[in-house]
Amino acid sequence: MSKRYTITAALPYTNGPIHIGHLAGVYVPADIYARYKRLTGNDVAFICGSDEHGVPITIKAKKEGVTPQDIVDKYHAIIKKSFVDFGITFDNYSRTSAKIHHETASEFFKTLYDKHEFVEEVTEQLYDEEANQFLADRFVTGTCPKCGNEEAYGDQCENCGSSLNATDLIGPKSAITGNVPTLKETKHWFLPLNKHENFLREWILKGHKKDWKPNVYGQVKSWIDDGLRPRAVTRDLDWGIPVPVPGGEGKVLYVWFDAPIGYISATKEWAAQEGKDWEPYWKDKDTKLVHFIGKDNIVFHCIIFPSMLKAEGSYILPDNVPANEFLNLEGNKLSTSKNWAVWLPDYLEDFPNQQDVLRYALTANAPESKDNDFTWKDFQARNNNELVAIFGNFINRVVVLTNKYYDGVIPEASDFSEVDTETLATVKAYPSVIESSIERYRFREASQELMNLARLGNKYLADEEPWKLVKTDEARTKTIMFIALQIASALATLSEPFLPFTSNKLKRILDTHSNSWTDISTKDILLPSGHRIGKGELLFSKIEDKTIQEQLDKLEASKKANEAANKEVEPQKETITFDDFTKLDMRVGTILEAEKMPKTKKLLVLKVDTGIDTRTIVSGIAESFTPEEVVGKQVTVLVNLAPRALRGVESEGMILMTETPEGKLVFVNPDTTVNSGLQIS
Ligand code: MF3
Ligand code: ZN
Repeated sequence: MSKRYTITAALPYTNGPIHIGHLAGVYVPADIYARYKRLTGNDVAFICGSDEHGVPITIKAKKEGVTPQDIVDKYHAIIKKSFVDFGITFDNYSRTSAKIHHETASEFFKTLYDKHEFVEEVTEQLYDEEANQFLADRFVTGTCPKCGNEEAYGDQCENCGSSLNATDLIGPKSAITGNVPTLKETKHWFLPLNKHENFLREWILKGHKKDWKPNVYGQVKSWIDDGLRPRAVTRDLDWGIPVPVPGGEGKVLYVWFDAPIGYISATKEWAAQEGKDWEPYWKDKDTKLVHFIGKDNIVFHCIIFPSMLKAEGSYILPDNVPANEFLNLEGNKLSTSKNWAVWLPDYLEDFPNQQDVLRYALTANAPESKDNDFTWKDFQARNNNELVAIFGNFINRVVVLTNKYYDGVIPEASDFSEVDTETLATVKAYPSVIESSIERYRFREASQELMNLARLGNKYLADEEPWKLVKTDEARTKTIMFIALQIASALATLSEPFLPFTSNKLKRILDTHSNSWTDISTKDILLPSGHRIGKGELLFSKIEDKTIQEQLDKLEASKKANEAANKEVEPQKETITFDDFTKLDMRVGTILEAEKMPKTKKLLVLKVDTGIDTRTIVSGIAESFTPEEVVGKQVTVLVNLAPRALRGVESEGMILMTETPEGKLVFVNPDTTVNSGLQIS
């Protein structure tokens, strides 16, 4: 039966591009769900947009010396493009700086204010005297009172997921100046979550929410059991939506108050464009509202936003919040600040037109019930062993043989064998098999079922061997090919939510566009005899080890660069006098000969022309240079260093060097060729 669905995906913060973690945790599953719901004939509003307020954006703007608006404009465009590029089919991708959002959020706030749903209170909040600013949310860090994490933020601890008030932090520190904050009085509006505790308990714990994912249900239950406290929904900041009530001058709405309302504003914006009424999507109790989010957003979507909607009074509540756990990358936490990520724009540059490979690898390995690791090796294996070897191989065989034997025209089938009948019946059952996984938000399982259908096709061809029978039994060969083509056609339709680009390609190859999801389970014939298919083209191609190694090297380089950037600069040494300096005799030297010191890894024995003489210098550079590389090089030599013996070889001086972030030594040398022996002063 057709139903109305409002499907939302967490609004990404516009302070950077998005990476594979976002895609795996939120946007790919949400898109699979939305596509599937559309394919099965439902009325779908799939909604998202940029989350453009909040402290991280202000911090980034300050750092780069630009305005917050510059930052959000830049990343809104980049993120929006990534979603289009990866086939995420939002009906509307809006932004919270849009006028309609400011109006909708203001109005929502005013409604709660007029209904006396807020508690207005003057409290002492953390203040940075030097920056002249109140510190909330990400402007302040400290130790989490719940788990002891020393890097908790003023609104949330990312380690244990607790939602915090800034004043809860132990040993708070300003993220702007590093100062210890003072306390200063200020007025704010609080949403008394404690007042909604009974409602939440009834709705979630006693309601039908037992079918929510255990990780979501469990977290929500423990928060409610811990007892809920009033939560400030306004802030003393200048970036955000102004507080629209008396006394609100100079204050803005808390970003987590305005952002989820963004789902509503984006729906309104879309409905206006489409000439539709937005209200049924948010107010009709037959509408199913589903929020796709990552686990760090659970409290906001399961406690705070529902309390807001309930307090407002005219809205429906989410039917489900299928939050995912986190995706790690090669064993480490994904991190924007440490550049430990695979950014979507970079991926597309390195793997053009291979969006489906990433979609598939992320789905097959999605962090649905626990944190999971993305590795490039697994990505390669998913592509080579599944997409290429199973799905691609099956389609390729069907298309090539049909073109070869029948000039692309689907042959007539004659008598079906038992295997044929069974195979066709199995194909017919696939929509409901996949459906049952999707309905339980088990997208990994669903993607594996899709692959099983391709496996079935491969096995059918391998068992029936039309390439052998074609010489002896023409009628049987035709029947086999007819059935294989039906499987290929089912794959074209059923792959659409998971592999939309491939599905399109396949529909083009088979020239089959007319089958709906339900046709697969109801129609006896998906591609009729006499229909002509198109020319073959490869759906997937093998990814070589070299390509994977390049990605691993890229990550390694990023790790090194990050370590180097975080390396503390050595403090300056004690001051010396000019006389001390003049004692150093530094000259330009030319390396004449070089050889490895036997039985050592690091040492080269050099003969250096110092202009004064030719002398032996033992230098620890063998891991950065081969002897051949250094012969002829001009370098800076400290010539009056007292000689000392290294491994029995007397070294008469020292070559000046420095080290790159990657740990490679480089010479300090003149930038043009000069005479050996010139003094350096
Ligand atoms: N911007 C938030 C994040 O990336 C998510 C906001 S979801 C919404 O964690 F509900 F507020 F829209
Ligand atoms: Zn914590």
